[in-house]
Amino acid sequence: MIQLRDLHKAYDATTAVDGVSLEIRAGETFGLLGPNGAGKTTTIHLMVGVLQPDRGSVLIDGVGDPAIASVRRNIGVAPQTLSIYDELTAEENLRFFGRLYSLSGSALAERIDWAMEFSGLTERRRDRSKTFSGGMQRRLNLACALIHDPPVILLDEPTVGVDPQSRNHIFESIESINMAALLSLQASSAFSSASV
Ligand SMILES: Nc1ncnc2c1ncn2[C@@H]1O[C@H](COP(=O)(O)OP(=O)(O)O)[C@@H](O)[C@H]1O
Ligand SMILES: [Mg+2]
Repeated sequence: MIQLRDLHKAYDATTAVDGVSLEIRAGETFGLLGPNGAGKTTTIHLMVGVLQPDRGSVLIDGVGDPAIASVRRNIGVAPQTLSIYDELTAEENLRFFGRLYSLSGSALAERIDWAMEFSGLTERRRDRSKTFSGGMQRRLNLACALIHDPPVILLDEPTVGVDPQSRNHIFESIESINMAALLSLQASSAFSSASV
């Protein structure tokens, strides 16, 4: 589903990504581990089309270039640098990101309710995000990445600044999203093989 082939990226004299190749199949939870400066964030930026590789290629779902809007629509990304708006409430942030992905009406309202539960922020949904703790902001940042229920989810340091209990909650939630997606994948392939 995701293929990186011989990816290279340098910032002037600094080589950030030096020949990364990997393949992530549907249903896999894949972790990129490495010390600070290893090139993880740069790799994610290449995967979402924020940066162009110097050499090599990114294929999402076999389609290709994440610079293409229709490819990017299938990706949810929670950046390492928080992307939520301080002056907006939790709910307004989610609505904003949902609208960017063309959600509206009851579909958007349902996803916002889901995201509030997911991030454990239902009680604080009408508070501005600048009043949140670092961990709560991180959880909202993650929920904004998931608002459009994307098939591909990229999370850059999703648990930085999050307390151990919430960290476990985030890991378990990611596993349960993955499990739900796998089940629906199996159901649809059972359906298509049954219909052949
Ligand atoms: N915008 C940038 N300009 C110049 N150098 C950068 C930039 N972003 C990252 N780097 C450098 O690229 C390398 C990889 O950084 P990064 O991808 O952020 O690593 P990680 O996310 O694994 O900590 C580091 O040496 C970092 O200093
Ligand atoms: Mg990083």
